[in-house]
Amino acid sequence: MAPSTSSRLFAGLLVVLWSGRLYSANGCFSSIISFGDSIADTGNAKYLASIYDDVRFLCVPPYGQNFIGQSTGRCSNGRLIIDFLAEILGLPLIPPYFSIKGSGSVAALRQGVNYAVAGSTAMNSSFVEARCNGCVVLNGSLEVQLAWFKQSLPFICGNATSSDCRNFIGRSLILMGEIGGNDYNLPLTTGRPIDEVQSYVPLVVDTIVSAINELIDMGAQTLVVPGNFPIGCFPSYLTIGVSDKEGYDPITGCLTKLNEFSEYHNKMLRIKLNKIQELNPNVVVIYADYYNAAMQIYHSPDKYGFTNGTFKACCGCGGPFNYKATERCGDVSMILCDEPDKYVSWDGVHLTEAAYKLISKSLFQGQYTMPEFRSICPRTSTSEGIGKSSI
Ligand SMILES: *[C@@H]1O[C@H](CO)[C@@H](O)[C@H](O)[C@H]1NC(C)=O
Ligand SMILES: *[C@@H]1O[C@H](CO)[C@@H](O)[C@H](O)[C@H]1NC(C)=O
Ligand SMILES: *[C@@H]1O[C@H](CO)[C@@H](O)[C@H](O)[C@H]1NC(C)=O
Ligand SMILES: *[C@@H]1O[C@H](CO)[C@@H](O)[C@H](O)[C@H]1NC(C)=O
Repeated sequence: MAPSTSSRLFAGLLVVLWSGRLYSANGCFSSIISFGDSIADTGNAKYLASIYDDVRFLCVPPYGQNFIGQSTGRCSNGRLIIDFLAEILGLPLIPPYFSIKGSGSVAALRQGVNYAVAGSTAMNSSFVEARCNGCVVLNGSLEVQLAWFKQSLPFICGNATSSDCRNFIGRSLILMGEIGGNDYNLPLTTGRPIDEVQSYVPLVVDTIVSAINELIDMGAQTLVVPGNFPIGCFPSYLTIGVSDKEGYDPITGCLTKLNEFSEYHNKMLRIKLNKIQELNPNVVVIYADYYNAAMQIYHSPDKYGFTNGTFKACCGCGGPFNYKATERCGDVSMILCDEPDKYVSWDGVHLTEAAYKLISKSLFQGQYTMPEFRSICPRTSTSEGIGKSSI
């Protein structure tokens, strides 16, 4: 009965292989573990507000107005890049860690957990506070987020050094960022010269690199590391502006020096990521090019349906870009647009769901990740693309 024995053996092998590989609905990862700031925060700041008594980052209505009518604390009108990524991977929406902490429903964290918190920085809060004219920085730096992660591991997978935890981390997609943007935004918008802020870049990048190395030591196998956005195209910076016409890119209208600043950060980050990849050949480190994925829109806004506002925020309190530093989206004097899908910027600092959706497609089903995400998780390329109303 050799054939049936071998076919039974073969079937057994298949089960083993499949049980090891069938992680999410599309078979790539069992969960997403996310660190970052408001670009990826799915609600932590909202939960932390009561602790920090800081209302700047709550993202309450009209934030989330297109997210099945809910305010989730996401800093957009709807879904974020991390939501589209979860959808592509066939995973549920990634819950904010603080919505579950202490609730006893830690099983929910096994399919993903988000430590990103709006307003956070890569460097510790005292470093940034010393450089932003007395502003208050949320105590949620990358180091703090990693500490939250380590504190929560016993509830998710047991002893952090156990094989269960290493497997949990290894089968997860780690989304490391975007982080570091606020390390620059806070000094730049409180009067620090760009040349000085540029000198923080190596420190910020090294802090991100340390967090990545620590996660690799804990068993991380696949990491997506986003760069910074073209901040020179953001209404917040365009409102500050510059006095000379030469300061604006003649094609896009964005602020040249600020975009060059983002590109500099991204270049430094990529050099370090290549080094990490070299030293860890069994790990996959994927750079996510948020900058160029977003620049597509600023180069051809009409082509992508952003017919009303390339530079004007959908939600703000007036001014040429519908953005003011002192009054924000959600305040009483708010001017809210009718069709957010036709705007790139939601509130002057964060993008609309429509922009995040296009960027997500370009990243995870297109060419704006290095190596291409599709080569790591091929099934995304054969899916029909990101659904419009699947949430
Ligand atoms: C914050 O970071 C700076 C620079 O890395 C370091 O010198 C300082 O000791 C840190 N402060 C705290 C409170 O961790
Ligand atoms: C920030 O939070 C960390 C971890 O929760 C804590 O150890 C640290 O003392 C806090 N720092 C400040 C300045 O509150
Ligand atoms: C975790 O596991 C390691 C190695 O098995 C062991 O040395 C350590 O004591 C354990 N820690 C806890 C808190 O159980
Ligand atoms: C939006 O754009 C359309 C077409 O370009 C235009 O007709 C409409 O007036 C614009 N609406 C606003 C609020 O700017």
